[in-house]
Amino acid sequence: MERATFIKNCGKLCLGSLIAASLLESCAGNYYAATSVSNNLIQLKKTEFIQLKNGVETYRKFVLIKADHLQFPICVYQINQTEYTALYMECTHKSCELTPHGDYLICPCHGSEFSNAGKVQNPPAEADLHNFKIKTDHENIYIYLA
Ligand code: FES
Repeated sequence: MERATFIKNCGKLCLGSLIAASLLESCAGNYYAATSVSNNLIQLKKTEFIQLKNGVETYRKFVLIKADHLQFPICVYQINQTEYTALYMECTHKSCELTPHGDYLICPCHGSEFSNAGKVQNPPAEADLHNFKIKTDHENIYIYLA
């Protein structure tokens, strides 16, 4: 094999590995939490944010939840020890389902980005995400759907 061909093939292999690692990381981060729903109120245990990695307790930045009557999931972010946001994952541009990536959500259709507070960071979307009203106590997060 010629040197130039070898280097070109190595470059393709490295690029492919980076893309695959990125895809696996984003899939691995999407955890659907167990919830209980009654009277338009979702109860989510704060312990759903805890995960074990190699025997060490760590915290997820977000968990996803589904409600039967909603078309899209809700992404619940833990902003800090006491602050959470519950964002409806419907893009405000043309209603595609958003994909969470760490501290922000991306629209796969036309590339809009939203912060973990639901604010538009990049167009074409102009409106912020629907941010559900929430309350918390020492054990749970309560998300008001109505
Ligand atoms: S539908 Fe999300 S950017 Fe267009």
